[in-house]
Amino acid sequence: MIYTVTFNPAVDCVVDIEHIRPGEVNRLAGEQVFFGGKGINVSVMLNELGIPTEALGFCAGFTGTAIEQWLREKGISTDFIHLKEGFTRINIKIRSDAETDLNGDGPAIDSEAFDQLIDRLGKLGKGDTLVLAGSLPKSVSNHAYEQIAELMGKKGVRTAVDTSGRAMLNVLRCKPFLIKPNIRELGDMFATNITDAAQAAAYAAKLRKMGARNVLVSMGREGAILLDENDKLHTCAACRGKTVGTVGAGDSMLAGFLAGLEQGGYDEALKLGTAAGGATAFSEGLGKKELIYKLLKQL
Ligand SMILES: Nc1ncnc2c1ncn2[C@@H]1O[C@H](COP(=O)(O)OP(=O)(O)OP(=O)(O)O)[C@@H](O)[C@H]1O
Ligand SMILES: [Mg+2]
Repeated sequence: MIYTVTFNPAVDCVVDIEHIRPGEVNRLAGEQVFFGGKGINVSVMLNELGIPTEALGFCAGFTGTAIEQWLREKGISTDFIHLKEGFTRINIKIRSDAETDLNGDGPAIDSEAFDQLIDRLGKLGKGDTLVLAGSLPKSVSNHAYEQIAELMGKKGVRTAVDTSGRAMLNVLRCKPFLIKPNIRELGDMFATNITDAAQAAAYAAKLRKMGARNVLVSMGREGAILLDENDKLHTCAACRGKTVGTVGAGDSMLAGFLAGLEQGGYDEALKLGTAAGGATAFSEGLGKKELIYKLLKQL
C-alpha cells in the first residue's frame, strides 16, 4: 500500500473577480473550492490511477471533516489525527488583474499529536511506501520527516519525500528511497541557481552521495530527469498542451512515478509521472485518467 502524510492540509477557495476594490463589497465572477495539501494530492492521483492508497496526517474542525469526507467519497481510505484545537486552514486565492494568495498557517500540532502519528505509522511494514510531501508547519520541528524516515527505514518501508530546504536536507541521512525536488528547490538546497538538465543531473548526483537512493528533479515545462539508484540518468521531455494551472503538477508527477514503478521500471515510471504532471498542468485541478493515458502516447 502507498500511504501519504499531509501535515497541513488545506481547503483552497479560488475566487475570480475582474477588479478588486479594497474597502468595498466586491461581487465575485466565480468561485471554486478545492481540497488538498501535497500528500492528499498524491493520494488522489494514485487513486485516479487505480493504485490503493491511504491518506494520513493531521486535520481539525469542520474543514478537516470536509476533506476526510471528500476523500472517502472518492474511495480513498483516511486515518488522520484529529487535532483538538483550531481548524484545517482555508487558503484564499484571488484571481483578478493579478493573482493574490492568502495562505493560513494551519492548526498547531503539539508533541502529543505528533506522537500519535508516529504510533499510527507503526502499522506500515515491508512492501509499503510512505510519501512525505509538503512543507512542515511552524509548530513542528524540521527534523520531523527525518524522524519518520528513520523509523520507516528500520521497518523496511520505502520513503518518498517531496519537500524543500532544511527539511529535505535533514532527511537524506536516512537514505530515502526517492526525493523529488523541483529545479528551484534543488538550487535552493545548494544556495545556487540551476538552469538546465545537465546542471540538475550534477546536483542530483550530489544528493545521491548525501544519501538519497533515487532523485527525481522536475523542471516544469522543461520536463524532468531521474538519477536512479544505479546512477543511471533518465530524462523525459514534458507533454505538449495548453497550460491551465500547474498547482499540483509536482504531486501528480510523484504519484504517477510511484504508480509506474508498481508496474514497470524507471523509464515507464518517469513517463507515467510526466503524463500525470502534464495532465494536471492542462486541467483545472488535478488531471484525470483519460487525459493522462492520452498524454502518455506522446512520450
Ligand atoms: N506547463 C507544463 N506543461 C507540460 N508539463 C508540465 C507543465 N508544468 C508541469 N508539467 C509536468 O509536471 C512535472 C512537475 O511539474 P513542476 O516541475 O512544475 O512541479 P512542482 O514545481 O513540484 O509543482 P507543485 O509543487 O506545484 O506540485 C514536470 O516535470 C512536467 O512533466
Ligand atoms: Mg512541488
